[in-house]
Order: sequence, then C-alpha cells, then structure tokens
Amino acid sequence: MASNWNAHSWRGHEARHLPVYPHADKLQAVETTLTSFPPLVFAGEARALKADLAEAAAGRAFLLQGGDCAESFAEFHPNNIRDTFRVLLQMAVILTFASKQPVIKVGRMAGQFAKPRSSPMERQGDVELPSYLGDNINGMDFTPESRIPDPDRMLRAYSQAAATLNLLRAFATGGYANLRQVHQWTLDHIGKSPWAAKFGEMADRIGEALDFMQACGVNPATVPQLQGTSFYTSHEALLLQYEEAMTRQDSLTGKWYDTSAHMLWIGDRTRFEGSAHVEFLRGVDNPIGVKCGPSLAPDVLLKLLDTLNPGREAGRITLISRYGYDKVEAGLPALVRAVTREGHPVLWSCDPMHGNVIKADNGYKTRPFERILKEVEGFFAVHRAEGTHAGGIHIEMTGRDVTECTGGAVAISEAGLADRYHTHCDPRLNAAQSLELAFLLAEAINLERAGQKAQAA
Ligand code: PEP
Ligand code: CO
Repeated sequence: MASNWNAHSWRGHEARHLPVYPHADKLQAVETTLTSFPPLVFAGEARALKADLAEAAAGRAFLLQGGDCAESFAEFHPNNIRDTFRVLLQMAVILTFASKQPVIKVGRMAGQFAKPRSSPMERQGDVELPSYLGDNINGMDFTPESRIPDPDRMLRAYSQAAATLNLLRAFATGGYANLRQVHQWTLDHIGKSPWAAKFGEMADRIGEALDFMQACGVNPATVPQLQGTSFYTSHEALLLQYEEAMTRQDSLTGKWYDTSAHMLWIGDRTRFEGSAHVEFLRGVDNPIGVKCGPSLAPDVLLKLLDTLNPGREAGRITLISRYGYDKVEAGLPALVRAVTREGHPVLWSCDPMHGNVIKADNGYKTRPFERILKEVEGFFAVHRAEGTHAGGIHIEMTGRDVTECTGGAVAISEAGLADRYHTHCDPRLNAAQSLELAFLLAEAINLERAGQKAQAA
C-alpha cells in the first residue's frame, strides 16, 4: 500500500480546479452521506480491467474509451445511454474484426461530470460570473445563483451515475450486446453515412462466421462471450471531495479503491508535481489514466510514473497523449523514449480531441474532424517508428445525431454547427463520425500488425 497515504491526505497538497463551497457544514454533511452509500463498482472489477489493460500494454489488446465531455442532468435519458453504448459496441466490433484482438470498452460515462476550465470566470457582454464547472458542482445557466457550487449536486450525480451504470450493466450482459444483434445496432440516423453501409457489410460477414461456428456447435448458449461483453466506466477524478467519499477499503485484499468508477484519470491541468490529484490517485488501486500534453517534460513524466506506479505494475497506468494534430509527431517521441528507456509498463492511448479545439467564426467551439484523424495518424506513426504499441483511443462522442465537430463523410459545415449543438462542454463526435474514425483506426492497427509480422518473418 502507498506509504503515508490515506483517502484525505490530498487535502495537504495544492489543489487546482476545485470549487469553493460557501457552506462548509453543508458540504461536510453531503460527504458523510456519500460515505455511507454503496460503492458503484466492486474492487474485483477494477482488478479485471487492470488485467485487461495489462494485455493492451503488452500489445495484445486495444483500449476504446469514449463518451461525453461532460455528462449532464439535462441529457440524462435511457435513449442517450443506449445510443452511446451501441456506437461504442459498433466501434469495438469494427476494431476487433480488423485487428483480431480483444477491444477493452470503457465509457466516459456514469460519473463524468466535473470539468477543469481554462478560466475561472466567464464573461457575457458586460456581465462576468464564475465559470460552469460541471453539473455535479454548479449549473450551466448564466445566472449568479446557478453558478454557486452546491454540494447537493454530488448526491444527484451519484444517483445518475448509479442508474446509468445499472443500465450499462444490463445492456452489456442482458442480451443487447449479443453478437447476433450486430445488425440491429445501426442507428437510423447514421443510415445516410457511407460508413453505415460498410458496417452492414461487416455485420454480414460476422453473421456468416457465427452461422459457421454454430454449425460446429459453438453458439451463444455454449460460449458466454458471444452473449454479452464487459463494459467498464471511467471519469476524470477531479472533484476530490466526491472521490474521497467514494473511496473504500476492499475487504478481500485490504487495498483502497475509488469505487466511483473502474478507471480514473488525471487531467492535463492537475498532473503537476505536488498536486493534490496526484496525491489522491497514488493511493487507490484502480487503473489510472494520465493525460499527457505538450507541456509535459519527459523527466516530469518519469517522476510521476514513479509516484503513481512505484511497483511498475502492468495495467496500472494508461498514458493518454493529447498534443494536437500539428504537435504530436514532434512532441510524443521524447515521452515514448523516456518511458521505454526506464522500462515503465504503460499503455499508450491517444486523445485526438483536446489538442484540436478551435473557435468557429460564428463563435461555436468545435473540432475539425480532419484534424482529429490527423492526430490519430500521427500517434500511430510515432509508435510505429518507436516500435511501441499504439494501444488505445480516448474520444468525446455521443450516439446522438449532434452537429458539434465539423467535417466527416456526412459533412458538417461551420454554419451547420448551430443545428444540433447540445454539448455541455467540449464538442463531441456524432455517431457517423465515430464509425468513420473506427474504420480509420482499424486500418492503422492493421498497418502496425503488418509491420510486426514483416519484422518477425
Ligand atoms: C477531458 O478529458 O475532458 C479534459 C479536460 O482533458 P485534458 O485534461 O486532456 O484537457
Ligand atoms: Co473535454
């Protein structure tokens, strides 16, 4: 167990991006209530995910992590959960079919509420108010009352996370994810994308393979993997008051787990040396993600890895690079070389979203799809050149037919952004753009494998 650590030792460290609650007693009461609530995940599940991620770190699996930038109370609806889940399933099928490797599915779901903001204040015209920090902290309405941090929002976030997770578990194991349903997963509104047709062809081939296997006696009744799938949850461990209250000691192993999600990550703005967020996460035994942007120097990363993973356990750390399409090929190799040299067993994943945000002329925050694809290509190119495994993707996406990122096969123009721009924070890929990205990833993964086979021959 981490030395000199307990679930509240972070309180003695520099904490950035945490809200200041006006009433300490009310906050305390909510924390006490949350501490008495059931954990949302079981420690054994976090260990299973860690074992899966260790496989990906070793080059034998691929991580698919995706969901909203910020979940919201307003968008909480079973159809939204189902649609995001099924686009992730479709993407996973595309990637598995292409790579012939297991794909680990992790949602940015069931707890992804709190947001670090680039500015603590937001100005509209002559009025300046505290920024919106996520639905578990304050409200998005631009009024002074709404922007006051309210601890009761943590209880509502807990309840929404519990209900979301319950539905995800039901979908994952209750028959919805049965591979025999692969045709049914296509959403009506992506029918107009050429990638939906491509998905349909692949679904036919999977159906044929299943028919063949069934004739050989292999069917969902005898092979449970065909009936359902594993699905894990994750979010940025930003709101430490909430994360602390959800932290429990596992009765089987005596280790501490943050039971608010299977996997937690540290954002680019809170991974600095001496940070309270690093202090908190070093002591919980969940798999941990670390966002790596252009400001992260290789020696700082190595120190961070020694702090977070002193035992060098495989599957513990996923490094999520988010450079921007024009910086990844220049910046990432130095990190990859340092980590490889020191022998840290990390999984490399690519977040092609957060380095590629621009403001459209009409004021909408957007991400050009071409830049997202370009960062993914750059990420794969770096790992091919370094001989390391490009092992995962981390995206902001939704199953809804939104217009938030420009471009893609069903081209969204800057003028079209206004049609269905619903995000509470950053722009997300819609279902059609997500499928398109999955097919591109499949090609990149195959290129990596072809390179490995050529080397082995
Ligand atoms: C995020 O993932 O929503 C986020 C804020 O990312 P980053 O910390 O990489 O900017
Ligand atoms: Co975001």
